Amino acid sequence: MLPSVLPTESDHVPVLADEIVATLDPRPGETVVDATFGAGGHSTLLASRLKGQGKLIAIDRDPSVTPYFERLRRGTSLKARLLSGEFSTVLEQLSSNGVRADVVLLDLGVSSMQLDRPERGFSYAVDAPLDMRMDPSSEYSARELVNEAGERELADIFKRYGEERYARQIARAIVRPRQTEPFDRTGDLVETIKAAIPAPARFGEGHPAKRVFQALRIEVNDESGAIERALPAALEMLRPGGRLAVISFHSLEDRLVKQFLRKQEGGCTCPPDFPICICGSEPVMRATPRRAIRPSAAEVARNPRAQSARLRVGTKVG
Ligand SMILES: C[S@@+](CC[C@H](N)C(=O)[O-])C[C@H]1O[C@@H](n2cnc3c(N)ncnc32)[C@H](O)[C@@H]1O
Repeated sequence: MLPSVLPTESDHVPVLADEIVATLDPRPGETVVDATFGAGGHSTLLASRLKGQGKLIAIDRDPSVTPYFERLRRGTSLKARLLSGEFSTVLEQLSSNGVRADVVLLDLGVSSMQLDRPERGFSYAVDAPLDMRMDPSSEYSARELVNEAGERELADIFKRYGEERYARQIARAIVRPRQTEPFDRTGDLVETIKAAIPAPARFGEGHPAKRVFQALRIEVNDESGAIERALPAALEMLRPGGRLAVISFHSLEDRLVKQFLRKQEGGCTCPPDFPICICGSEPVMRATPRRAIRPSAAEVARNPRAQSARLRVGTKVG
């Protein structure tokens, strides 16, 4: 028996669940694409609104979500399929094959199951192999990144994706010992990070390795690149009136989504001093609502992982 790989009630809790259902408002007969299926929490809620009529296309690059998808499929009469792969590639393929959707959801980052399974190497809380690949078949893991990237490159990654104040000091502390012995385990990396930062900072905001681990995970999985490629692909496959929702957990990701929506809303791209529009560009999307939706205090109290979540929704102009 393998209880850890079978779905249980304690699996990933979907964040901003009520807000997702209210803003995406799926209707019977529609096609919903959940591009970050995970444990299928959001998919289950969205599927229930389709009332057995319509289609669910689930995507995830982590094959360990399959039992969760099978559980959902057993409980619904919807047409449902799971596509394994990186969401930007799958969305581009679906779109170029003429598949159209009414709803596309991206709930970015990692799931609780990925974080809580020590052998995946995402967690700084337990000693495990240095891995962090969402797709275990991909070639590039945190081990390669930590042992092969230059000092400057590591510092940039820690700063950009982790907003780590001591990025330079930590990068310097990593490149020295790896010359004699490469980093293999998360535990060794955590100890190196702790030793590199000033003592008072070790007891500051959260775990001292939290920001570096987040940064490594984002880089290993090319999470920013995937979002940049996925947004236009999602827009392309939406039908007029279709809704796109993105939940991000990092200010950089949220900025990418916000800028994308602003650009699609912009319409005319003529210089401001042109007396009339000559570009003829029309707005393609409306941000609905205009501002990012944040979790309520009650949700954060129930599920601290929701704390940094930001939801942005756009509707394709019909
Ligand atoms: C935050 S979890 C989603 C949880 C899900 N909404 C639920 O309610 O259970 C993110 C999931 O998306 C997947 N994922 C993240 N980035 C991806 C990408 N670029 N391509 C495909 N899957 C990705 C991860 O493997 C993970 O399972």
